[in-house]
Amino acid sequence: MICNYIAYIVAAILLGLCIGRGECAIGVNWGRNNAQRLIPSMVVDLLLQNGVKEARIYNAQEDILKAFTGSGIDLTITLFNFHAIDSEDEAEKWLSQKLEYAKHSNIRRIYIGFDAFAQGITDKKSLNNSLRAYNFMRAALNDSGYDYVKATMPHPDIILNVENITRPSEADFRPEIKEEMHAPLVIELLPIYYVLLKNLSIDFAGPSENPSHVIKDVNGAIYTDYFTFLHDSFVWAINKAGVPDLDIVVGAVGWPTDGFPGGNTSTAEHFFKHLLPYVISNKGTPMRPGKPIDTYVHALTDENMNGDYFPYARHWGIYRTNGEPKYKIDLSGQGRDIFPARAKGIMRMPERWCVYKENMKGYNKSRVIEEFKYACKRADCTSLAPGASCSGLSFTLNVSYAFNMYFQMMFQDERECVFGGYATVVTEDPSTDECVFPVEVVKGQQENFIFKSGQDRLFAPFSVSLLSVFLGIVKLLESCNNLVRN
Ligand SMILES: *[C@@H]1O[C@H](CO)[C@@H](O)[C@H](O)[C@H]1NC(C)=O
Ligand SMILES: *[C@@H]1O[C@H](CO)[C@@H](O)[C@H](O)[C@H]1NC(C)=O
Ligand SMILES: *[C@@H]1O[C@H](CO)[C@@H](O)[C@H](O)[C@H]1NC(C)=O
Ligand SMILES: *[C@@H]1O[C@H](CO)[C@@H](O)[C@H](O)[C@H]1NC(C)=O
Ligand SMILES: *[C@@H]1O[C@H](CO)[C@@H](O)[C@H](O)[C@H]1NC(C)=O
Ligand SMILES: *[C@@H]1O[C@H](CO)[C@@H](O)[C@H](O)[C@H]1NC(C)=O
Ligand SMILES: *[C@@H]1O[C@H](CO)[C@@H](O)[C@H](O)[C@H]1NC(C)=O
Repeated sequence: MICNYIAYIVAAILLGLCIGRGECAIGVNWGRNNAQRLIPSMVVDLLLQNGVKEARIYNAQEDILKAFTGSGIDLTITLFNFHAIDSEDEAEKWLSQKLEYAKHSNIRRIYIGFDAFAQGITDKKSLNNSLRAYNFMRAALNDSGYDYVKATMPHPDIILNVENITRPSEADFRPEIKEEMHAPLVIELLPIYYVLLKNLSIDFAGPSENPSHVIKDVNGAIYTDYFTFLHDSFVWAINKAGVPDLDIVVGAVGWPTDGFPGGNTSTAEHFFKHLLPYVISNKGTPMRPGKPIDTYVHALTDENMNGDYFPYARHWGIYRTNGEPKYKIDLSGQGRDIFPARAKGIMRMPERWCVYKENMKGYNKSRVIEEFKYACKRADCTSLAPGASCSGLSFTLNVSYAFNMYFQMMFQDERECVFGGYATVVTEDPSTDECVFPVEVVKGQQENFIFKSGQDRLFAPFSVSLLSVFLGIVKLLESCNNLVRN
C-alpha cells in the first residue's frame, strides 16, 4: 500500500504541478457552507471576470459541476467520505457521478478527504482508510481513462510539529504519522493561527515591506513572515522524510476579516497585496529559492455555517455572502490596487431587520438570554466575539444582532422574528459604525440547499480538536516533567 503511494509520488513529481505549464497560477477556493449563497453560475462569472483559471470547490454537487462546464476553469474536487470507498467499484461509482462533467469542466485533481493525515495523528484506521481510498481512486481513474486526473491529499500544517518550533529547520512530521507521511504535496497554511498563538504582530503573518520580526535559521536563512516559515517547515520535513524533490502546492491560504482583533478588511488587503505578487514572483523561499509557489486563496466567500471553533473560521471570504467584495485584491498577482469584480444580478432582500423589543411588559431577562442563545446557536454570531467587529455592542444591540442574523438566515420570514415576543421587524438600519447588521440575498432558485452545517472543514474543527488533544498531551508531559523535577 505504502509502495503504491510512493509510486504515485514519483508520478506526481514527474507530472509536476507547475512545471510544464510554464508558470504558476493563483487559484481560488469556494465552498457554500452558507445560509445565503451565490448561485454557481454567478460564482463562475466572478472567477472569469477576475481572470482566475483554477478553482478548488468544496462541494462538487451536480449543479456546481454543471455551472463550471465549458468555463475553461481547472477544477479540484474533494471526495469527503473516503471511508465509504472500500473497493475499486465504489471508487468508480463515485467517479461516474462526477466525471461525466470532467471532459467539459476540466476536473484536474481529486482530493481524498480534507485532513486524512491530520486525523491519522489520533486515528490510524482513518489514515489507512484514506490510503486505501487513494489507491482505489487511482486505479479507478486509470481504468476509466482519466489517468491525467490527479488524486492527492491536502495536508494542514498541523501534521508538522510547528506549534513547538522556533525555526523551520526544526520542523518534522508529527511522530504519530511520520512513517506514513510520504507525500505532502498539497499543504494548507494558517499563518494567522500561529501569529495569534505566539502573540506576534499580525504583520508577521505574510510578506511585507517592513518586517516586524526576524527569525534566523541555519545556513543564514532568514524568515520575516509565517507564510514562508510554514512553507519551509514543510520543505524541511519532506527533506527529513527523504523525498526532498516533491513539488509543493499551497492548497489554501487565507486571511479572515472578522473574529479577532486586527481581523478586518485593511489587514486582509495588506496580507494579499504583498502575498500574491510574492508567490508568483520567482523569489521563492530560503529553502526553495527561485521557485514560484502555486497558491490557492481561501476563500471566495464567507461561509457562515462553518464550525465556529475559531470565531474567524466563518470570515475567510474575499466577498461577503451577498457578493460584495470586501477589500481590494488583485487575483492576477500583479499587486494592482483594484477591487475584484462585483457579482452581477444579485438580488438582496428588502431593507428589513429583526431587532430586540425592549421595555416589554413582564420583561424577563433570563428568557431574553435564552432567546439570544437560541438565535446564536443556529445563526452566525461570531462577529460578537472578543475583538471582532461587533464586540463592543450593548446588551440590547447584542440581542438585536443575534435576532437579525437568525431572521436573515430564515430569509426574512416574519414568523422567525418572534423570540418569545421580544422581537420586532424594523425598516431602520440598526448597524453601528463598526458593526454591520446585514441584509442578505434572496434565496432564489438554489439547488442542493441543505439547511444544516455540512462538512466542517479546513483549519476549523479538526485542527482545533486535534490541537487541543495535542496541547493536552503536551501539558500532561509538562506536568510529568515538573513532577519529576520537583
Ligand atoms: C494499517 O495498515 C497496515 C498495513 O497496510 C497494517 O499493518 C495496520 O495494522 C493497519 N492499522 C490499522 C489501525 O488499521
Ligand atoms: C495510473 O496511471 C499512471 C499514469 O499513466 C501510472 O503511473 C500509475 O502507475 C497507474 N496507477 C494505477 C494504480 O494503475
Ligand atoms: C514541545 O517542546 C517542549 C519543550 O521543549 C518539549 O518538552 C515537548 O516534548 C515538545 N513537544 C513535541 C510534541 O515535540
Ligand atoms: C502580547 O504582546 C503584547 C505586546 O507585544 C504584550 O503587551 C502582551 O502582554 C502579550 N500577551 C501575552 C499573552 O503574552
Ligand atoms: C484593522 O486592524 C488593524 C490592526 O489591529 C488596525 O490598525 C486598523 O485600524 C484596523 N482597520 C480597520 C478599518 O478597522
Ligand atoms: C423567566 O424565564 C425563564 C427562562 O425561560 C423561566 O424559567 C422563568 O420561570 C421566567 N420567570 C418568570 C418570572 O416568568
Ligand atoms: C454580547 O455577546 C457576546 C457573545 O456572546 C458576549 O461575549 C458579550 O459579553 C455580550 N455583551 C454584552 C454587553 O452582553
